[in-house]
This record gives sequence, structure tokens and C-alpha cells, in this order.
Amino acid sequence: MHSAYMQTNPASRASGDGETANAATHPREPTWSVVEHGWNPQRANYFETIFTVGNGRLGTRGSLEERHTGALPGTFIAGVYDAYDSPVIDLVNAPDWLDSEIFVDGLRLDTESAQVIEHRRSLDLRSGVLHRDTVFGLPGGARARLRTERFASTADRDLCCLRIEVTCLDHAGAVTVRTGIDGNRRNLERLPTYREQTAFGHERKWDKWAKSTHLVSVGARFDGAVGVLESRTIDSGLDLAFALTCSGEGGRRHQRSRHDGIEVQWHFDVGPGETVRVDKLVGLATSRDHLAVRPERERALDTVARAGSFDTAAAANRAAWDRQWVDADCSVVGDDRVTQALRFAIYHLLIAANPDDPTVSIGAKALSGEGYRGHVFWDTEVMLLPFFLFTQPRAARALLGYRHHTLPGAREVAADNGTGGARFAWESADTGREECPRYTPDGKERFYTREEELHITADIAYAIIRYAAVTGDDDYLFGQGAEILFETARFWVQRCTEDGDSLVLRTVMGPDEFHSHVDNNAFTNKLVHWHLRQAAAVYERMSRERRERLHDLMASIGLDPSEPAGWRAAADRLRAPTDPDCGVIEQFDGYFDRTVVPIVDWDAHGMPRLPVRYSPFDCEATSLLKQPDVVMLLHMLPDEYSMATRRLNYEFYEQRTMHKSSLSPSIHAIVGLQVGDSRTAQRYFERSAFVDLDDNQGNTEEGIHIASAAGTWQVATHGFGGVRADADGLRFTPALPGSWQRLRFSVHWRGRPVRADLGHRDARFELLGAGPPVRIIVWGEPVTLEPGVVVEVAAP
Ligand code: BGC
Repeated sequence: MHSAYMQTNPASRASGDGETANAATHPREPTWSVVEHGWNPQRANYFETIFTVGNGRLGTRGSLEERHTGALPGTFIAGVYDAYDSPVIDLVNAPDWLDSEIFVDGLRLDTESAQVIEHRRSLDLRSGVLHRDTVFGLPGGARARLRTERFASTADRDLCCLRIEVTCLDHAGAVTVRTGIDGNRRNLERLPTYREQTAFGHERKWDKWAKSTHLVSVGARFDGAVGVLESRTIDSGLDLAFALTCSGEGGRRHQRSRHDGIEVQWHFDVGPGETVRVDKLVGLATSRDHLAVRPERERALDTVARAGSFDTAAAANRAAWDRQWVDADCSVVGDDRVTQALRFAIYHLLIAANPDDPTVSIGAKALSGEGYRGHVFWDTEVMLLPFFLFTQPRAARALLGYRHHTLPGAREVAADNGTGGARFAWESADTGREECPRYTPDGKERFYTREEELHITADIAYAIIRYAAVTGDDDYLFGQGAEILFETARFWVQRCTEDGDSLVLRTVMGPDEFHSHVDNNAFTNKLVHWHLRQAAAVYERMSRERRERLHDLMASIGLDPSEPAGWRAAADRLRAPTDPDCGVIEQFDGYFDRTVVPIVDWDAHGMPRLPVRYSPFDCEATSLLKQPDVVMLLHMLPDEYSMATRRLNYEFYEQRTMHKSSLSPSIHAIVGLQVGDSRTAQRYFERSAFVDLDDNQGNTEEGIHIASAAGTWQVATHGFGGVRADADGLRFTPALPGSWQRLRFSVHWRGRPVRADLGHRDARFELLGAGPPVRIIVWGEPVTLEPGVVVEVAAP
């Protein structure tokens, strides 16, 4: 399969790849955009995900404004969950602020009622704006052009904007633009069970699903020219308000409200070649907004009032994006295709996080689709956090804030499972309580992740320590960080059981979800060991450096001064198995006895296919892994193992890994590069970088693989760029692929950005921001950076 970038290449089209609608590049700014050429209903749901616009507060899928049969539209507001009418809590498919219809001479302009002559959409990654340009054929041969622009503002995260322009290309016509906010939204629940071969066309794909209702309308009306739709989530009782203003020059305006929607209609008499325009501004407020006190309705109205015009809002949005890109960009000189993929990944990361809200996190599909129901996994701390930590530290801090905000829920999870302290849920939503279902959506398979995938609690501790190490933010570490570390350390001590002289962790599941009910998963045990020691070390530092704060914290969580010594003692006794003869870390007790099933078949991307007879639910007895487990451990704690051990274990486990999670390839790429396997690493990097642009997992329509996007950034910066932040400080050991000329990106280190421009034979660095010089290590040698001075280092 071609990559998205290659699909636009005229040569590849001329060679007849047969695609009619592809993600592709913008001819002028190929690395800053993703383009859809032509209308293909089979690809429409894919583009809905790819073209999501957002700002971390909300995300809106890239559906056509007028929708199409088979559309899967959605607006998702971070933190707005509801459990009514569905067995598992959902991130609510919120009122649709795009909702529009356009008529020319009574004909509805949509992909089924009118002929699509041209269709092109382009997502501008630099400014977060989706542009659309469709030419429809009308009866009698006339044509009408529909152009739109939309964005969810990053300058004002409560604001969304849509511009609609209609041109009668060759005749005079009567144009009607109807646009509003539609509160009649439902979440997909599950597909009824059909005989196995049942296949639905794009137009039936979603309409057979059971659907959950989460919203009731509590008011829809206009005050003068401004409309407000108010809805409430049924179970969680959250109030949402959407305010709407609309302007259109020279038309006749009508407005209307129904019980769950508001809309404005504009009627224009349009001359041949003439264009009419309607601008729509939407303000959003919810009752869960962090620190908000005034009623939602008032706040939503204020938002549209202060936005001014579409053009003012667009300029402010653009300026806010420009500021974000200064530190976030990562580009490759000599490989535009990879640069586009990196920017696409970064774009989706930037629209996933809200640095101003420490009560929400990022779900497995961010705010781009209903996949995984918006639930939050370990993905955030292990895959996503490094990107934010090194480019947007405020967003990283906010993401950690969510875990403190949900600490009461984590205490409940621990109590429900018979221990004290706090245990984080495998799948978390608004409260931190466990939301992970027990069965697959078709009810056929039981899975045990909610009971057994305990390692997430240590992963969160890991993220806290990493955040503090990179930022130097001791106020956080000794505040919310310490509270989480101590409460979770208490959980581990109680969860361990005695086995002779050792402590063991029985009946768990490591990151490799093909194996459940295992004892002493090496990843979990080692991370817990590390976590317990780090918690004790933070306690010891606080008793020297922040006695008062420690005293208050101990009083508030009832911590006995003898407990931290117990954490260290438990860490020392926790079993961490490694084969003494060959040095391979046994993934869990008895893993070496599982049936060795060789991987003998690979797909077009060079990724393994499951051997015939096996499905992801019956690999328990085999040596096959879903995703890195020991290799993930080597990635997270590289300093704990020698290079020889890392190489040996990478080679051993890489041969057994099926990569059935999109988290897997990027981690293999990074560890592969560290142990010198750069050829395999490049293949894994490709797989990760194009997971959504190429839809190489086949389910992009359900939402972006946001962990993979972040993994892609990590491969570029930490893998090829060789970035590491450890006890000696910030290191760069670049080793670029032969086809790349230079790799450019920034990393924040202790509050200040360092720009890196890395080549094969040299590397350049610049430290920004005022303050003392900073020492970094480049290719093993110390280098001192003075603010504002570019330093060039020659490769050894
Ligand atoms: C993976 C998990 C991941 C989850 C959400 C699963 O398929 O195995 O590691 O947390 O997807 O992305």
C-alpha cells in the first residue's frame, strides 16, 4: 500500500493505483497539510477521523457539514462522560455544531442528491483549519460551488467557527443556507450479532448498531439574534450550553428552534458567478469546566460576543497555533513524506491536550472518535506524556493533574479489590473508578484487563518521576506527586504475597494481553520495584527538604513514618526473574514452557500475521506476544540493564511479537535503534508513522491511534535523535537514517527550550530563554549552551 504522501504524487496516480480519494499533500505546502481529492464514500469515515479539528477541550470529526448516508459525525468534549443507556460509560457524542444544509434552486447540495463534479478538502496542520471545496452539478448542467472553513479555536478553547460560501458558477439561483446546532445525538452502542460473513456497505455500516442516548434537551431558544441550545447528560447530570451567532450579508434571515436544536436560515438571490457567505460562531460551556463559576448559558453567550467576527477569531487561532508549533515542530530535511507524517502526528497530539484543564486526560482515540469509548489507559503516561513533557510542559502537568483529580476513584478501586492505598483503573473516565468492560462488545470473549492489568499504577508513578526529572518541578513532586506515589506504594505492598523469602505478584497481566492470570510478570514486578524505591526516595528527600509539607501530607493520608522503610524492604524482596544461563528475562513464571509458535507469515507492511488457527483470544498457551512486554521494560528502564542484556532480550522477544496493538511498532523501533538493529527499526518507524495516514491497522475510522502518533514522535527524537534525559542531564546521540539529511526539533529541559538541528556529521544546538548556561551531552561529550548562541558539534 502507498503511504498517504505518495498517493498524491502525480506519477503514482498515472501509474494507475486506482484510488479516487486519498490523503495526500497540498501542492504548495506538502508537509503542512493532508488533502482529500475526490469523493469516495468508502473512504469517508476514514477522512472523518483524519480531518478531526479540535483544541484539547473538544474535538469534532471531519464529517461533511451536510453529512452523507453512512456518516459517523461526532463532537467530543473532554471529560463529558455519561453511562445512561449503555453498559459502559461513554465519552458523549455531544451536540453537533456543524449541522448545515445548503440548497440551490431547491436542490439539496449533498453527495447523493447532486452530482459531485469536484471535491477537495485540505487540513492545514499549521493552523488547525479544515478547508473544503466541492463543485456540485445541478439539473440542466449548471454548477454550484460549496466552500467551507472550520476550526475549533486554540486561542479561545470555548469557541468553534464555521464559514460557508456558495457560488452559483454559471447561472442565477436561489440559495438557502441552513445552519445550526443539533442536540439529537447518540453514541453507537454495539453491532447486533450477525452471521459471520455479513458485510455492510458504507451506507449501512453504522445504522444497524444499537445506540445509546446520553443527552436530554433542557432548552432551545433565541434571544434576539443569538440562539442557545442547552442539554443535560442523563446519568452524570452535566449541563452543556451552545450559543450560536450567524452572519450573512445581503440575505433574508429566519431563525427557528425545535426541542433539541436551533438553526438559522439564510435565503439569497445569487447572480451568475456571485458568491454568498455565512459565518457561524459557536460558544460552548459545560458545568464541569475547570474553575468556572458562572452559569453555562452566560459563559457560552460571552464567548460568541467576545469572538467578534470569523476573521478576527481565525487570526487569533492562527497566532495561537503559530506559538504552539514553535516548540512542537519536528521535521526531516530530505524526507518530506516523513515530515508530513510527523506533523500530522503532532497536529493530532496538539488537539488532544488542554493545558488549562488538569481534570481531564486523553483517551485512546483522543477526541476523534468513539473507539474505546473515550476511556483513558496507560497510553497517556507511557506513550503520550514524553511528547508533552519535552514540548508543552504545561500540558504534561495538566495530564498528571488528572491522575490526582481521580485519586479518590483510585482509592475506591483499591478498596474494591481488598487493599488500602490507591490503584489506578485500567480504563478510567470522569471519576477514576474502573470502567473497563469484562467482555468484548459482541459478548463473546471475556477479558481480564480490568482485574489484572495492574501495571498502570506503576506506569503513572513512572510518569510522575519522569516529569519531575525533566522539568525540575519539585513543587509538583512534593505536592500532588508525592501523594500519588505514597498512596500507590501502599497499594503495592498490600497486593504482594509471600512466597518463601520472596514477595510475588500473582494473577496479573503484563502489557502483553495475550497472556492472562500470570504470576510475576517481569515488567510489572520490575516497575513496582522501581516505583517502591522511588516513593521511598521522595519521602527521604522531603524529610530533608520539605519537612512541613511532608508533615501535612502524612497527616492527611495517615502515613506512618515506618511505612517508607517497608516500601524499600518490599522492593528488595520482590521477585524479578532472569534466566541465569542465557540472560533472557522470563516474561512471567512459566513463559519459557509455553508452546513456541513460529511467525511465518507477514503482511504488505512486513508485520506478522497470526498463524492459522490462532486468534488474539487463544494465544494463552503459546509464546506469541500481542505487544512489547519485556521490550517495553527495556524501553522504560534502560539503565537497569546492560547493552548485552538489552540486545539479547530484544532479539528474543522481537521474534515472538505480533504487534496487535498500535503501541507496539514505535517501541520496537526505539529499542531496536538502541541495540543497533536500525534496519528493523526503520520498518517499525514506517509502520508507526503511517498507522492512520495509511490506515494500516484498518480501523482509523473509529478514531486516531494517538499513542502511535506520540510513539512516532518518540522514535524521531529519542530513537533517531538519540535524546535521553537521565541522571547526567540531557543527552543527544543522533544516528539518522541514510536518506535523511537533517532532523530538527526542540526539547524543553528544566523549563527552557533547546533547539536541535541534527545531521550525520554535525549537530547544532541553541538554548532559548533567559537564565544560566546549560550543559548537555552530545555523542558522549559535554557541551555547554549559552542562551541565544548556536553551538555546532562535530560527530566523533
Ligand atoms: C492495548 C493496550 C492499550 C489499549 C488502548 C490495547 O489494544 O493492548 O496496551 O492501552 O489498546 O490503546
